[in-house]
Amino acid sequence: MKKLASTIVAAGLIASSVAADSAITAVKVNADLDRVNYKSAVWKDAKFSTVTLYPQTTIEFNDKKANALNTANKAVKAKIAAVYNDSRIAFLIGWSDETKNVTTGTKTDEYADGFAVQFASNSTNPKELPYIGMGSDGRPVVIHLQKEAIGVFEPNGNGDVSHQINPNQTDLFGEDLKNFNKKVKRLASTDYERSFVSEGFRSMTEIKDASNKSYSRIGYASGGWSGTVSRPLKDEYVNLNAASIPVAFAVWDGEKMGRNGLKNLTAWTAVKLEGKKGGDALVTALHGKVAGDAAKGKEAAMMNGCTGCHQMEATDAANLMGPSLTNIGGYSTVDYLRESLVNPSAVVVPGYNRNAHSNYAWYNIENGKRVSTMPDHSWMEKADLDNIVAYLKTLKAEVK
Ligand code: HEC
Repeated sequence: MKKLASTIVAAGLIASSVAADSAITAVKVNADLDRVNYKSAVWKDAKFSTVTLYPQTTIEFNDKKANALNTANKAVKAKIAAVYNDSRIAFLIGWSDETKNVTTGTKTDEYADGFAVQFASNSTNPKELPYIGMGSDGRPVVIHLQKEAIGVFEPNGNGDVSHQINPNQTDLFGEDLKNFNKKVKRLASTDYERSFVSEGFRSMTEIKDASNKSYSRIGYASGGWSGTVSRPLKDEYVNLNAASIPVAFAVWDGEKMGRNGLKNLTAWTAVKLEGKKGGDALVTALHGKVAGDAAKGKEAAMMNGCTGCHQMEATDAANLMGPSLTNIGGYSTVDYLRESLVNPSAVVVPGYNRNAHSNYAWYNIENGKRVSTMPDHSWMEKADLDNIVAYLKTLKAEVK
């Protein structure tokens, strides 16, 4: 079965010629999905789609080395499949990565490869989905994160790095070794699996209690990773039991010290649950044709001073007055881009770095709420707005 995992990654490479990302189909299955992993037979019945994950460029780190490693990041492709049954939905993601990076828990400057699958807690209005990077105020998301960690034993069972022991290096034998191994089995952390509810980076809450019924796995073979997440169709955090749902995917590259916002991610992508009727509004909102003329939009952006605050294209000089928009078209929906123009404070993007650009605040606090310093452009003609949005949609890194 190991073959399946590498096949997925290889298939992902072949499919890199697919032009645009479209909706993903979740196939209805009878199989039990509680403990599904990337080797499970159920994926033979699945339909594979290709998604493109773009470098998130809004977050600026106080880490010169990491910033240098990530300046010329390209987009990457991943293969996605989804299956569901009466109670659960599961996703498989396969992507290539030449270097395998895992955390051993014994060093602080190690970064693991990994992936995340994100859901919108509320998607009844496809035009007002949460901010793609971990949600936003009043628009929560649920995130399942899985990174690769190898087994480390910590005798007290509370993950304290300074007390960790590598199980291969004990001088115990006989009955003592047996007891030690039992304890290792019980307490060693071989898994880095986390679930969060988040309304932006500042308000991430890990779901640690029994209400978390998700299950995820990750494995490396033949130059690529395969990962799976299985979760209930419906729980207290999100209801995915619908004809179509918005889902987003992210991958981290430990080799480039990727962590937090230093990652590649997709835009909200529609997943259609095969056999259920409806859900077209979401598919159209996320994958429909973009109205407007990008060339005219570029002109309108110049005329309206967008470049006074934003780096728009990779060849433009960096501009600290606002976030870089060089990849914005890769991971933003058309509706999000329009909203950014006509109602800038609806979502205030994370990443403002007081140390890096203290003179250019991206927002001010008024009555306890963050208010964007970007001017409101709701006065613009509809045609100009359409054209600018069409132009913004073209701003994205090339695919690796
Ligand atoms: C005075 C400076 C300023 C001007 C002019 C300006 N912006 Fe912004 N813009 C910002 C700031 C600051 C933010 C971040 C705060 C926020 O989320 O609103 C931002 C956010 C954005 C975002 C969301 C970015 C993200 O990462 O999600 C988009 C899209 C955007 N601007 C597009 C434009 C366009 C197009 C124009 C020209 C019509 C423009 N901006 C003009 C300052 C500006």
